Amino acid sequence: MVSTFPNSYSVDLSRVRLSIRSLQPQLVEWRRRLHQQPELGFQEKLTAEFVSSQLQAWGIEYQTGIAKTGIVVTIAGSKPGKVLAIRADMDALPIQELNEVPYRSQHDGVMHACGHDGHTAIALGIAYYLQQHREDFAGTVKIIFQPAEEGPGGAKPMIEAGVLKNPDVDAIIGLHLWNNLPLGTVGVRAGALMAAVELFNCTILGKGGHGAIPHQTVDSIVIAAQIVNALQTIVARNVNPIDSAVVTVGALHAGTAHNVIADTANMKGTVRYFNPEFAGFFKQRIEQIIAGICQSHGANYDLEYISLYPPVINDAGIAELVRSVAEEVVETPVGVVPECQTMGGEDMSFFLREVPGCYFFLGSANPEKNLAYPHHHPRFDFDETVLPMGVEIFARCVEKFLNKST
Ligand code: NI
Repeated sequence: MVSTFPNSYSVDLSRVRLSIRSLQPQLVEWRRRLHQQPELGFQEKLTAEFVSSQLQAWGIEYQTGIAKTGIVVTIAGSKPGKVLAIRADMDALPIQELNEVPYRSQHDGVMHACGHDGHTAIALGIAYYLQQHREDFAGTVKIIFQPAEEGPGGAKPMIEAGVLKNPDVDAIIGLHLWNNLPLGTVGVRAGALMAAVELFNCTILGKGGHGAIPHQTVDSIVIAAQIVNALQTIVARNVNPIDSAVVTVGALHAGTAHNVIADTANMKGTVRYFNPEFAGFFKQRIEQIIAGICQSHGANYDLEYISLYPPVINDAGIAELVRSVAEEVVETPVGVVPECQTMGGEDMSFFLREVPGCYFFLGSANPEKNLAYPHHHPRFDFDETVLPMGVEIFARCVEKFLNKST
């Protein structure tokens, strides 16, 4: 991850072909329209209608209603060949937008605060471009407009609905606009790019009573405090220090008064890791620790553990394809950030478990225009000049992957 930002921000689009550069006004228009009508996961009705209406106007073949609101586009090239999929997510977040821009969210309490409006606009851009340039590639491109990336996850039900089949997808690529990287840079790496996401909810079931008479109670707060501290030993003492992992308790609620011992304490937490071999490991250790501490105090517990998304693991070959294309497109020397990783999660991981592929970050932050708030912030916005660069990278990946003789 780049920790220092450059002194000035401009994106050099000279390596973006004219026919894509000229799409800039449309890309911005589509993105702003989507930004104004954000919808939560599996409720992307207006979004899907807008995407469909554009595809229909351009004479592009598509299917709707996949995993509720998902759309799959199929564009065949000039002759038979391999199949490359491009994935974009469409959903927004339950956040009240604080930006004072003409295109601000018109839906109260819902906001495109992660840039998925940009992903959808870029996907529309590549659909439009490829439809006009079918003679430039062999094989087939599938463009997957996915619902509910922010949870509970639209990738898995889309795979179950068969989007990677008929024709069978050979490889998949996708991007995330990324305000942790300067405008116009690309973060890509082979292997783990983003972490697995697991969640837990735990209730300690003690016995309440008078704050001055503790020996008649089982104090859920004392037990919860021990558990919070003990959970940190999983990463510190059970995980190989060469691996990376996080256990965070993000919420802890108990009690009502100075002089009352709380009978229950509730905690919520999240676990992140890159190494797929940890699947199941944290669930087991967390339960062992909670059970052991509760037993030693005579308490019970309820534990709900959710393995939400596996880690995002890029295939070395497809990551190299994206890296080589990015080096052709982005400005040097800022250019390509080779070892970009985050403990954030993404359900692109489900696609990458099925077929080789690569997910990458396209830097979209521009502090000079006050466009550098973090993702999921109520003032999040990104520099739209980067949109054609996303389309260009996808176009070159299509040409390079599908025209390569095997
Ligand atoms: Ni996102």
